[in-house]
Amino acid sequence: MNAPIPKDFLWGAATASYQIEGHPLADGACPSNWHRFAHRRGRIQDGTNGDVACDHYHRWPEDVRHMKELGLGAYRFSVAWPRVVPEPGRVNTKGLEFYDRLVDALLEAGITPFATLFHWDLPAWLEDLGGFTRRDAVEHLDFYGRAVFEALGDRVKNWISLNEPVAHAFNGYLFGSNAPGKHLRFRSAFAASHYQLLGHARLVKSFHKTGKQGRIGIANHQMWYTPLRAEDPGDVQVARRMDAVSNRLFMEPIFLGRYPEEAVRGFGRFLPKGWERDLAEMREPGDFLGINYYNRATYRHAPLVPLLHGREVPTPGARRSAMWDIDPRGLQVILARVREEYGNPPVYITENGYPLPERPGADPLDDQERIDYLEKHIEQTLQACAAGSDVRGFFVWSLLDNFEWHLGNTMRFGLIRVDFATQARTWRRSASWYRDLIRR
Ligand code: FCB
Repeated sequence: MNAPIPKDFLWGAATASYQIEGHPLADGACPSNWHRFAHRRGRIQDGTNGDVACDHYHRWPEDVRHMKELGLGAYRFSVAWPRVVPEPGRVNTKGLEFYDRLVDALLEAGITPFATLFHWDLPAWLEDLGGFTRRDAVEHLDFYGRAVFEALGDRVKNWISLNEPVAHAFNGYLFGSNAPGKHLRFRSAFAASHYQLLGHARLVKSFHKTGKQGRIGIANHQMWYTPLRAEDPGDVQVARRMDAVSNRLFMEPIFLGRYPEEAVRGFGRFLPKGWERDLAEMREPGDFLGINYYNRATYRHAPLVPLLHGREVPTPGARRSAMWDIDPRGLQVILARVREEYGNPPVYITENGYPLPERPGADPLDDQERIDYLEKHIEQTLQACAAGSDVRGFFVWSLLDNFEWHLGNTMRFGLIRVDFATQARTWRRSASWYRDLIRR
């Protein structure tokens, strides 16, 4: 790595509640949307679910020891809303106690906690009320958020309001791969986007109102969308439309107080009535921006595809992981936009990581591909810093192999391998590599 590392840069790793904790109904929690979804036949590719996951709910002391040995400066985890608010308006202190202990252990180990409030596990009762497709969700989110600020805010100074609202909304209501598994419900998808962003804004305000010291931001998924043929106006337009609807739709309301023009033209009719009136309230950048970056996607014009008039095609010349086309340069493209168009806020790369399913005969601990991937993305991050971006930290997704949503336990992202039969944790090469990088 050639570019200099900014002073006080934080090296971290990230996880999420439903993906690692297990025991989702323990200690008075209510079921979540994901608990339900994962228990529906055929929804999860390998038939697994989050009932045990990494058993982090019991094994967190061991996991914190691993973090300490890695030398992590920060750990990003999420709080499970269904543990904290098992019924409308009631806070379950037993559910909060888990995070209380975790936070104490992190601080004791010298690791800065970054707590995400909503990483897709919604109380089932709220899903029954329509979840984020309904405006009421904003109030419920706020109630939950305030309970967590109150319980942990004396020790947690870094908060993430929402993780990837785009995925919860679009994968949940358009593509059906995430809970609640609906297809092509355009109105629901855009309502869920809109009310999540409004919810983010509300959380930022509520957090600042507590008067507690600390900072709060959103973690947005951003992809690099490119046209198949740069000289083909149809391809260019489709790539722009994808960029508008999946990247900028989740940035411009909070940074600029507007929805992107292209998104409104193509999809504005699916937004909840009167959405314009919410824009002023939604303009709430928070104190930093989290970016989850993994991949590039290439699009070509396809007039027969409804609404989008385009489709994804393989990126010529790009390497591909088990899930996506890879192009580290996209991270710098995204960071340049944040710098130039959104006022250069403090940024954390809140997720970046590499999926590697295990193959018979291959050494499950040898993940050189992951090391190469991470190295290149860190390099791009540091180059963006050299160009003036204010990136303050980088979180690897993920600390541990975990329940990778609809792909189940097969898509492994961990620096640390988890044997799901025995729960044994074993360091991969990438873990030692990351430890050495942090040390240096
Ligand atoms: C992100 C999610 C995270 C994990 C990674 C691979 O979109 O935020 O929970 O699934 O992808």
